[in-house]
Amino acid sequence: MFDVNKIREDFPILNREVNGKALVYLDNAATSQTPQQVIDAIVDYYQNYNANIHRGVHALSQEATDKYEQARLKIQKHFNAEKAHEIIFTSGTTHSINIVANGFSLLIKQGDEVLVSAMEHHSNIVPWQMLCERTGGILKVIPMNQDGELLMNEYDKLLSDKTKLVFCNHISNALGTINPIEDIIVKAHEVGAAVLIDGAQAAPHIAADVQKLDVDFYAVSAHKVCGPTGVGMLYGKSTWLNKLPPYQGGGEMIDEVTFEKTTYAALPHKFEAGTPNICGGIAFGAALDYMNSVGFEAITKYEHELLQYATQQLLEIEGLRIYGTAKNKTSVISFNIDRVHPYDVGSILDKLGIAVRTGHHCAQPIMDFYKIPGTVRASFCFYNTKAEIDILVAGVQRAVNMLC
Ligand code: ALA
Repeated sequence: MFDVNKIREDFPILNREVNGKALVYLDNAATSQTPQQVIDAIVDYYQNYNANIHRGVHALSQEATDKYEQARLKIQKHFNAEKAHEIIFTSGTTHSINIVANGFSLLIKQGDEVLVSAMEHHSNIVPWQMLCERTGGILKVIPMNQDGELLMNEYDKLLSDKTKLVFCNHISNALGTINPIEDIIVKAHEVGAAVLIDGAQAAPHIAADVQKLDVDFYAVSAHKVCGPTGVGMLYGKSTWLNKLPPYQGGGEMIDEVTFEKTTYAALPHKFEAGTPNICGGIAFGAALDYMNSVGFEAITKYEHELLQYATQQLLEIEGLRIYGTAKNKTSVISFNIDRVHPYDVGSILDKLGIAVRTGHHCAQPIMDFYKIPGTVRASFCFYNTKAEIDILVAGVQRAVNMLC
């Protein structure tokens, strides 16, 4: 049984006050909050077995190594990767994407085409622009409509035997659109292109099955799924990961080093140079355990209720426009008030203890598309309540009364 009040007891931060008001945390698309179970895993690591991994014969090192590798197995199981070594620990989605973009520098030739969707986060645009600058590849954009849905017929027209890579987010961070990635992947594969899906915004809402999707690469950050910041994962099919060169050189990623030549370690270590975020990796595993104990089916259903309720309530406010009205969307609402700058609305909400994100959400091309400087974005998690949405709506109405 899904019991939001019981779930909220797991998140100590939800009891704090901000500006003398009870915190209403609605910036979950930026960073989700951390349950006690994950905080305990972090404390346990530093209190009981803090040591470097894969290096020491001593007990603490072996314990830390076991827990870190168990976390990798949890992530493998969660995303249903075929092999554990297809899960690479990274510092987050941005790092994951850069590993692939860097690797493809050797595989993309002058005139090859790479496609990105019109609703990408900068982290899924800039690395590919850098790749194209290095290689002479051509970046093309899959356009979207006013609702924030990709134009799949335009995608069909863009695909050709020149297309080598396709990049798309599973869910847009700025609009909440759930993209038809199944279709995107099948069609890309028909022309022989590889596909990277940015799963950062999907991971808190959907347990993606990478084998069922047949996706080539899938990238995620732990801090979106109730885990810590500074850690994430890159899933890659082992055929691809074996083909790509390492991203960074250093300890741990080698097989043998001489001054004449170095040979690289097998997967996953080839992409894991240096001492990783050991505690973060373990806590990432604990966060997925936590999310799974709540249950993704229950999460999806509850968050959909929150989305519908908040959408209806916010649209009652005169002059409020929602950006991102796709049929298939998750619990993210980007909006503006007529003639009011989003920053001003966000500042008033902050004074009321309500945390939202304002600005371009690292997705400037989306803002350019709508010809706006940015939006106010409220993003809901399974620990939010309808009562908090009422507080948000009252806060926005207050901002309207003050600013309009
Ligand atoms: N990418 C994160 C967001 O959308 C930080 O807020």
